[in-house]
Amino acid sequence: MCGIVGYIGKRQALPIVIEGLKRLEYRGYDSAGVALWDGKKLQDERAAGRISVLEGNLQRKSWAGNLAIAHTRWATHGKPSEANAHPQSDCTKGIEVVHNGIIENHAELREALIREGHKFVSDTDTEVISHLIERAFLVNAKEKILLEHAVLDGLRHVTGTFGIAVISKHDPRKLVAARRGSPLILGIGKDEFMVSSDVSAIVEHTRKVVYLHDDELAVLTPQGYEILGFNKKTISKPLNTIDWDVVSAQKGGYPHFMKKEIFEGPETLENAFRGRLLEAGKGGLVKLGGIEEIKNKLLTVRRILVVACGTSYYAGLVGKYFFENFSRIPCSVEHASEFRYSNPVLEKNTLVIAISQSGETADTLEALRDAKKRGALAIGIVNVVGSTIARESDAGVYNHAGPEIGVASTKAFLSQLGVLALLAMLLGKEKEAVSEVMLQKFSAELKSLPVKIKKILAMDEKIRKLAEKYLKYDNFLFLGRKYQYPVALEGALKLKEISYKYAEGLAAGEMKHGPIALVDEDMPCIVLAPKDSVYEKMLSNIEEIKARGGKILAVATEGDERIAKLADDVIYIPHTMEEAAPFLSVVPLQLFAYHTSDLLGLDVDKPRNLAKSVTVE
Ligand code: AGP
Repeated sequence: MCGIVGYIGKRQALPIVIEGLKRLEYRGYDSAGVALWDGKKLQDERAAGRISVLEGNLQRKSWAGNLAIAHTRWATHGKPSEANAHPQSDCTKGIEVVHNGIIENHAELREALIREGHKFVSDTDTEVISHLIERAFLVNAKEKILLEHAVLDGLRHVTGTFGIAVISKHDPRKLVAARRGSPLILGIGKDEFMVSSDVSAIVEHTRKVVYLHDDELAVLTPQGYEILGFNKKTISKPLNTIDWDVVSAQKGGYPHFMKKEIFEGPETLENAFRGRLLEAGKGGLVKLGGIEEIKNKLLTVRRILVVACGTSYYAGLVGKYFFENFSRIPCSVEHASEFRYSNPVLEKNTLVIAISQSGETADTLEALRDAKKRGALAIGIVNVVGSTIARESDAGVYNHAGPEIGVASTKAFLSQLGVLALLAMLLGKEKEAVSEVMLQKFSAELKSLPVKIKKILAMDEKIRKLAEKYLKYDNFLFLGRKYQYPVALEGALKLKEISYKYAEGLAAGEMKHGPIALVDEDMPCIVLAPKDSVYEKMLSNIEEIKARGGKILAVATEGDERIAKLADDVIYIPHTMEEAAPFLSVVPLQLFAYHTSDLLGLDVDKPRNLAKSVTVE
């Protein structure tokens, strides 16, 4: 997610906002920029790359002023570049805007504004906000409206999410901030005020903060601040005191980035679906802008091949079920590291899907290149905008999951499942391979998932106690069938990569073909047995394990009493469709692995021997 820092007050603004950006570097970014009012005019500077590049550019200027806004960009629309860095201006460079969020209707707004004569210089969604505010000033030129009212007039046209900070030559002694869907916090100092997307940029200057809520706008001046609703009425808000230090502030108050990212799961899914999973009856159910231009080629697809590594590979295994059930197109999923050396046979009309959170995994990148050389059409499902895999794919869908800092991938996995589900629904509808009823049912279920995941997250303490109970074991089996088999593999990977205990994921039907020889009282089995089409089979597995003295920790559908009689422990997940169950059953496993590692006092965010992105082969 992008980082925003703004300052107005008695001190020089530039060093404060630049230092503030450095506090936000942990979030990951691809470019940065700053705008300052020097008492006579607006200055601005942008740079692709690190903040140090921006600082180098600024050293050649002698800017002074008490009002500035700054931004680190995590690209969502428009590649990482100086032109696409924020702040984004209007035609007269009289308005500067920094933005965090996604403007869903930016294309229509851009076309309308261009028709009115506005000139755009970037391919960001954000730039439309600057021109909308400019238009508000132009339309109200006679009465010289206030900046906050111009901002509100502009935002009325916007669909999507935003956290913005705005300064302007039209109303210069003022910083205006507004939010809908992206966090904004005000720092209340002595004769100085700040705004940021993240308290870690504020906390070294003041611990007094005001949290803006959706559809609220703040007006900051050197004399004080005012909060307005989008109806322009003044709102009084409580002053909060932050007792975090900077580092814990970066983790949003969580002890580790991994835990913060597990708890970001619900909003991650909302971001993956935002503007893509449409209301029923609005034409197609799914809209994926990134593959629009190859949509006609998708109709000729006869086979899907997914290439990925690690957690992304396991997401691909769930995707196989989505594709085959919704679009009836045969799908295979291969470890990228195996695919690329296998002299693969790719028929004509093969669609290759490369899944990668980082977009830089060497094996996945080489597999993608090899598949393209063999004539395949390539789609990337990637989180990092402008990454190599994203750039080398013929088309793609970004996760919009925001930066994932913890080495163990959690929210990205949920987002990958979400994008795969959308792609399968779109293909199924295009090929008329799935009923409208099923599409509507699945779409409604997907929309209900963020709330259901929150219910599971509320069991965090209970899951920690279970991790404590099972801490003494060194080896685990994870069992699942059908949609739950890839989740068993992912749960095993989570546990082993951050707790260093041995864990193996298995297709439960394989137990009797060997692995059941491993079962005894020292080999607990984590069994994924939600109410689904293979539930009875999973009960048989549980009985076989019990008969051999094995311990069972089951993940089951809430209200299932049968399983409570059989398992030693049960973690209940909300009821859902079989096809949507992986989104829910993976969450307890993420938390179980997290707490096991934390209880062992290990480095949860940076486990030994591992890197966040494996850019070497
Ligand atoms: C997952 O927790 C691991 N960090 C690892 O398996 C990871 O999923 C794998 O390296 C693939 O990374 P990518 O999604 O960035 O390509």
